[in-house]
Amino acid sequence: MDQLVYLNGSIVAYADARIPIEDRGYQFGDGIYEVIRIYNGRPFTLDRHFERLRRSADEIRLPLDIEQLQADALSLIERQGLDEATLYLQATRGVAIRNHAFPSVSTPSVLMLVRPAAPPSDTMRQQGVRCLTVPDDRWARCSIKSTNLLSNVLAKQQAVEAGCYEAIYLRDGFMTEGSSANSWAVFGGELWTAPKSNYILGGITRDVLVELAREDGLPVREEPVPARRLPQADEFLVSSTTAEVLPVVELDGRPVGAGRPGPVWERLHRLLQRRITAECRPELAEAR
Ligand code: PDD
Repeated sequence: MDQLVYLNGSIVAYADARIPIEDRGYQFGDGIYEVIRIYNGRPFTLDRHFERLRRSADEIRLPLDIEQLQADALSLIERQGLDEATLYLQATRGVAIRNHAFPSVSTPSVLMLVRPAAPPSDTMRQQGVRCLTVPDDRWARCSIKSTNLLSNVLAKQQAVEAGCYEAIYLRDGFMTEGSSANSWAVFGGELWTAPKSNYILGGITRDVLVELAREDGLPVREEPVPARRLPQADEFLVSSTTAEVLPVVELDGRPVGAGRPGPVWERLHRLLQRRITAECRPELAEAR
């Protein structure tokens, strides 16, 4: 099947999907987005992603018909027909002559596309990944999933150039999150992650992992994690829609704990895979 694109209510061929040069997403980064993982042709935690899209849209005062978009996303997933994929959705304030203030009349531009997933490799899971810390120089409204990602882009590039998978932001002496993932530390069998606030994106994977951990009796502390404690962490993890949950074995060039993926990561990974199977491969879950 050729690559399809959903653009403003129609599904068109990739080559026919054009955005005007004065789209405010292009000129101002005046837009929001979502990334949704599809397993076995079925979207995982779809409702939660559209609920977050609604919150982002409200925060930037963007009028969107969320129910219609959710239905359109399902049609596109079906039409594109990929089993293991990600859906990218972005909505901007539309096209207008450049002026910072909102245009008096504008229609949001909405784009969606479904692409084959690029899941973490077995090696990344078996051997873990490396991270470095960077100052969190983002604005103070990080809970909005905004397409304004310049700080995140620069932080990720710094990580990649240092041979790392992810950059972990530190603000005022505390860990906030990664450039494109939430971050976690394990101290004495307790799982710590930054509390939800305007300084982090409330990750859907983060929410699911907190619920799964608690259901399984693993203590979770959604509390500020001081950067100075990070060298003493027994384990360190990152989570996102595309990365799921990954073990971090080296932080700022020093081994984390024993320097290999630990038991808390293994447990969370197993719980998450089980939840994905239950939601997206119910026939397999029942057969167990
Ligand atoms: N990134 N924090 C930031 C800054 C993110 O960009 C992301 C996701 C997350 C994790 O959120 P979730 O679990 O809902 O994916 C946390 C996506 C995957 C991206 O930008 O591609």
